[in-house]
Amino acid sequence: MMLKLFRNARIVTPKDEGSPAAGKNQGNVIRYDPGALIVKGGRIAGIGEEHAVLEGLPAEEVHMEVDCKGRCLIPGFVDPHTHMCFARLREAEFDMRIGGMSYLDILRQGGGILSSVEAVRRESESGLYRGTRSRVVTALEHGTTTVEIKSGYGLDTDNELKMLRVIDRVARQTPLDVVPTFLGAHAIPPEYADTPDTFVDLIVNEMLPAVRDQGIAKHCDVFCEDGVFTIDQSRRILSAAKQLGMAVKLHADEIRDLGGAGLAGELNAVSADHVLAASDESIDKMARAGVIATLLPATAYCLRKPYARARTFISRDVPVALATDCNPGSSYTESMPFVIGLAVLNMGLSPAEALTAATLNAAYALGLARRTGSLEDGKNADFLLLNGESPSILAYHAGVSPVRHVYKLGEKIV
Ligand code: NIG
Ligand code: FE
Repeated sequence: MMLKLFRNARIVTPKDEGSPAAGKNQGNVIRYDPGALIVKGGRIAGIGEEHAVLEGLPAEEVHMEVDCKGRCLIPGFVDPHTHMCFARLREAEFDMRIGGMSYLDILRQGGGILSSVEAVRRESESGLYRGTRSRVVTALEHGTTTVEIKSGYGLDTDNELKMLRVIDRVARQTPLDVVPTFLGAHAIPPEYADTPDTFVDLIVNEMLPAVRDQGIAKHCDVFCEDGVFTIDQSRRILSAAKQLGMAVKLHADEIRDLGGAGLAGELNAVSADHVLAASDESIDKMARAGVIATLLPATAYCLRKPYARARTFISRDVPVALATDCNPGSSYTESMPFVIGLAVLNMGLSPAEALTAATLNAAYALGLARRTGSLEDGKNADFLLLNGESPSILAYHAGVSPVRHVYKLGEKIV
């Protein structure tokens, strides 16, 4: 089979030891300089110091050679938490927030998530597809090669299934790997405002079985928060999802500490996301259960909140992943370089720790680390060439994406 050779690159990649990288391993990356990488049939078939890779490489089998000119080569980003499937922007709400109104107050008045619910219910499937696809393409241009997308703006069985169909179509019609997540418990819809437990019944008895039968979503998520879903309701929904064979994650302790991160530990969730307000006790429960902390610094930035305690998670051996949370309310960005910049400059991650968070640990948060998230033999050839010498360029070149080329399965697509 034909080989592609990428040489004269400054390769930086986390190393997959079979579990998410935690504690001091979070920042353990391998560097090859000058490094080379071989692609065969879309997979990595050799990586290392250039002289070692070139030794024993049958020159006649190399049908394409790329001189990377000393540029940094890293794995494609995995964005493990987004709400990119939505119908309309909420620009006026942004103005209300910068005018001083809080995110939860806007939601309480029927805006926020609920205004996106109204828009999605009205939107046709093809309109929803076009908008979602264009955001996914923007993510790809910023270096994301694998992305998770949640439902959660339908909040009734038909519209939740509609969102998951749209996400599935985006998965089939773009070069990225797209991972759909069911988030029927994203808000209490207006028709159940006075009877939230009846809505929980609907999720457990009707939506979850329908989602399982549809077969698109493999994860179930819940927004566990004041005025949204309580700890007990979240436990009920996620336990039911687990019984149907789904992996679970939570929006936990984003605004107030309800103990959502601790619940993630109790349920052996793959990740607890946001966790801005998580207590030390909950963090230790996450560590014991091996739950990944998916941190979303662009949300803290957009809501002007304090950042999650990334150093505490790392010092307590909780693996940290990074994601955009891309949504029309609390964090409207598709850019993983922006998120990495915030993580390095405002949460105290080293560029190497942030790289692991945005690639390997994020792949683990989606159950995909066997095929992506780091550059090693046998994994997918999903990688980026940066306009810079090291991953530091991602934080250093503020507000501009240093992603020069994006390769997916060894093909240049950006
Ligand atoms: O992760 N927190 C809940 N859900 C999203 C926001 C969704 C929205 O505002 O539309 C989040 O921040
Ligand atoms: Fe979110």
